[in-house]
Formats: sequence, C-alpha cells, structure tokens
Amino acid sequence: MRSSTSLFRRKTIAAILQNPPADHEGPVAGGLARHLTVRDLTALGIAAIIGAGIFSTIGKASLDGGPAVSLLFVFTAVACAFSALCYAQFAATIPVSGSAYTYAYASFGELAAWIIGWALIMEYAVGNIVVAISWSDYFTGLLDGIGLHLPLWLTMGTQTGHAGYEAVMSLMQTGRPLAEATPTQMDGYKAWTSAPELFNGFHLVVDLPAFVITVLITALVYVGIKESKNASNLLVLLKLIVVFIVIAVGAFYVQPANWHPFAPNGVGGVLKGVSAVFFAYIGFDAISTTAEECKNPQRDLPKAMMYALVICTVLYVIITLVLTGMVSYKELGVGDPLSFVFAKVGLSRLSGLVAVSAVFAMASVLLVFQLGQPRIWLTMSRDGLLPSVFARIHPRFHTPSFATIVTGFFVAVPALILNMDLVVDLTSIGTLFAFALVCGGILIIDPYGRSEARFKVPYINGQWLVPLILAVGAFLVVRYNAASNHEFWLDASGQHGWLQRDAVSDKVTGGFAHQIPTLVFFLFCIALSVLSFRKKLSLLPTLGLLINLYLMTELGISNWTLFFVWLLIGLAVYFTYGYKNSKLGQPSAPATA
Ligand code: ALA
Repeated sequence: MRSSTSLFRRKTIAAILQNPPADHEGPVAGGLARHLTVRDLTALGIAAIIGAGIFSTIGKASLDGGPAVSLLFVFTAVACAFSALCYAQFAATIPVSGSAYTYAYASFGELAAWIIGWALIMEYAVGNIVVAISWSDYFTGLLDGIGLHLPLWLTMGTQTGHAGYEAVMSLMQTGRPLAEATPTQMDGYKAWTSAPELFNGFHLVVDLPAFVITVLITALVYVGIKESKNASNLLVLLKLIVVFIVIAVGAFYVQPANWHPFAPNGVGGVLKGVSAVFFAYIGFDAISTTAEECKNPQRDLPKAMMYALVICTVLYVIITLVLTGMVSYKELGVGDPLSFVFAKVGLSRLSGLVAVSAVFAMASVLLVFQLGQPRIWLTMSRDGLLPSVFARIHPRFHTPSFATIVTGFFVAVPALILNMDLVVDLTSIGTLFAFALVCGGILIIDPYGRSEARFKVPYINGQWLVPLILAVGAFLVVRYNAASNHEFWLDASGQHGWLQRDAVSDKVTGGFAHQIPTLVFFLFCIALSVLSFRKKLSLLPTLGLLINLYLMTELGISNWTLFFVWLLIGLAVYFTYGYKNSKLGQPSAPATA
C-alpha cells in the first residue's frame, strides 16, 4: 500500500464504488436519478457523435482525399473502437460518473487522474465552444435564407471580427485589391466597423447565437436528466431521419464516374483528413459520464458505446460515398457539404432541410457535452480535488446544479469572443490524451484480460504482434515519407511532421522543435515493443494506446505548447487546492492501492 501523501495514491475500485454511498442501488444514486436504458445511452452516443464533423469538416477531408476518405472513416472507427473497448471495460468495472477521470484514479493514481480530469475539460467544454460557434454559423445562414438578417457584429466572435479588420486594413494600407480578402475576413471587417463602440474604443463584436444556444442547452441540462434524455432522443431521431433521407435521395444522384479516381491524391491525400475525421467520432466516450444515471450501467454502457460507434461508422461511410458520388470531390471544399450537394443537383428544398437538420444535430452534440462536463466535476469534487460546491445536487431536479451553471459560463462566454480555429485542435489533443490514458489504464489494471468484470477487452497476446505491427507501421511511414518527399507529413491544417503550419501565425515552418513529439513517440514505440515482448501485454489496449499517441503527434508543436500550458495551470490548481484537500489524503481516507 502506498502512502496517502503520495502523488500516486490510488483509489481502490471497491472504494470508488462506495462513493456514492448506500443508495447506489436505488432509483436515485448519490442523489442522481437513474433513468437511462441502453436505447437512451445509444441515442446519447449518437447525439454526441454526429455533429459538426459529418455536417462540416467532412467537406475539406473529401476535397483532399477524394472518395477514399470513406476508408479513412473505417480506419478511424477501428482506432476509436480500441479505445471504446477499454472505456467499456472500465465502465463495466467502475460504473460511476467520472468517466476517464475515475478510471485514471483507479489505475494511475491521483495526479494522473487530476491531469486527465483537467484534459477532459478540453474535450467537453472547449469542444462545446467549437460546436456552439459552428451552430451559430449554420443558424445565421438559415436566418439569412429566410430573409432575417442579424447585424454582423452579433454573429461572430470578437477575435474573428478583429482579425478580419486587421487583414482588410493591411490590404488597404498596402494598396492591394480587397478581393484578396476571404469572405470571412470581409465579414469580420464589416462587423468590426459597424459595431457599436463601448469604452476605450472597444468594438462590440460578439457571437450572440452561440451564447444563447449554450445558455438554453445549459438550462435544459440543469432542469433534469429525464428532460435532457427526452430532448436528446428527439433530436437524435430527427438527425437520423435526415441522414437517411440524404442517403436515400442522394443515392439516386450518384454518378459512379465521380468515384474514379478513388484516391486522387494517394494515401497522403486521404491521411490529410485524419483530424477532421477523428473529430467526427469524438463523443462515444461521453456516455460513460452518465453511469450513475443508468438503470444497469455494467451491462448497458459497453453495449451502448459499441452500438453508437458501429451505427455512426456505417452512416459515415455511406454518406461519404454518396457525397463523393453525387459531385466531383473537387467541389466539396465547403463548410456545409451535405446541403451543398443537394443545391448543386437542383434540390434546393432538400438542401434547406439538411441545413435545418445540421442545426438540430449540433444542438444535440452541445446537449451531451454540457451534460458530461458537470458530472466529471461532480466526481472530482466528491474526491476532494475540487470544492464541495461542485458536488451539490439540486434537491428538486437531481442534477449537479452548481457544476452545470459553471459549465454554462465556461462555454457560453468564450463562445461570444473566440475564433473557432484555435479551439478545434485543442479539443482533439485533450480527447486523444484521455483515450490514450484509458487504454494505458486497462494495461495497468488488467494487462492479461483476467478481469471478472461483466465486460472486458478480449485478450490477444501482444508478445510478437505488437513489435511486428510497429515494424510494419514504421516501414510504411518511411516508405510513404520517402515517396512523397515529406508531403505525406503535412495534414489538412499542415500541422505535423518535418514541415509545420503554426496554428497561431499560420506560417509553415520546419525545424527540430516540430519533430519532438514524433521522436518521443518513436522512442515510446520501442519501449512498448520491448515491454509487450517481455510481459505478453494485451494487444488491443496496447494498439489503442499507440494509435492515440500517434494521432497526438500529428497535431503539431503549437498545439502541444498550448496543451502543456493548460496542463501547467491544472498542476498549479492541483498543488494549491486538490493535493491538500483530497479525501485520500485525509486521516480517515478510504483504502488506497
Ligand atoms: N463528433 C462531434 C461532432 O462531430 C464532436 O460535432
């Protein structure tokens, strides 16, 4: 047993299951209401997954990779499935609200648990900032479509307005034509110059729709899990109906000639879509945060995660094929590809219907993540790592009231101000980090698949397979890297490998610093090969860990830098509050492992 003052003090699974205490089995667990069935959970998973990714970022991915992006959806689904299996085993072993945070507490100890809880804020709250901004784009587009025009200064973040103003002013000052500005920059300029000026010349440019939708969704989540569940089920139904209509109608407009060539820009072109495609899958893990509100979490959570992942994969692959079959991939570089293709083939009403459904789809993503974040804080607070007010349950609504309100502020206020680009990659890096730790956690608590849990990751001996798969992977990377003169390493946002595009300055740079994540990953692979060979580690969690880390290395040094700054702030909070107040550090602490 470790000392309870250790940074690596771990909670035993038995201790976690006693918290929430005695009423765990009843209809109300630890104050939360048990309403969710496997169908609700699957719907919640789909609600979280199908959103901005498939309605928006798939366009750019298809432009880069052509119809073969459908295969990337399959590959990424397999990668997510490794993480989903590990999440499912944890959810079956430790069915409480904290998701990856709780799993890390049981496997790596308190410090890692805190770090992962902190990183999950990136997935949930920061991810929701992205979704809220994206929702606002679709919504204002729809309003424009019916002749209702909001003032531009109420439709975008302060950052976007100011950046547009600077860009256009710079064109004017250097005597270059304004046509060189992008539509977004022009809108930013118009918003900035037409906005009311407050004190000190501050221009009031804010994304009001993003703020309002976040407040409305937060209010719904505050009022109750049952209401949220009903709203989520309804939104998912609407979303699925529209997706089916897109597939069924679109199929009649497919011209197989558009599928040739299948991969016009080769493997490198397809891989440029990795981050966009990964973003489209984020969300299947969010349902594990509702474990204390499930009727039968051990049985239903693993099932629901797998169902949601499989359903979404099938839909994504078919949609990609329909999309790239309806028009040439070269035309798909737009922000609203699903409605665009129908306008393109002359079905403007259907195009409008798809745009409306995108608004619903994104609202349901917002709902699930607004639901997940307070439940993670609730669990951290019960452990003493956050003030007890975060665990306060509303006496009437049975929801974590204070934590829900804080989440609302945390998402709504930045959504008023921020530009989406910076926060997108941060969402991915935080999520991948969480996935990697969950896979690593299974390797720690159950490296040989001997768990008694009602669901466990199937054990396949990785002794030879891990080194072999890594050797084949290294061969392929070197081969394609050589064949494409390093272009292979430049993704859709130009953010990895030997050449990098900095997210802040938008400049392509090279240099050793940019290779550090890749080199560290390389060393880690060697270490894990040796470990697998010697310890016969379970193959699937090992591969899950490696794939998630690999995708993280793709995200570029500027994102890593921001991620580290975020983690440093988190560590400062932990050492000034959590370490001292942790329940495990108290004399009457539950058992540590
Ligand atoms: N997967 C979610 C989306 O596409 C985050 O919006």
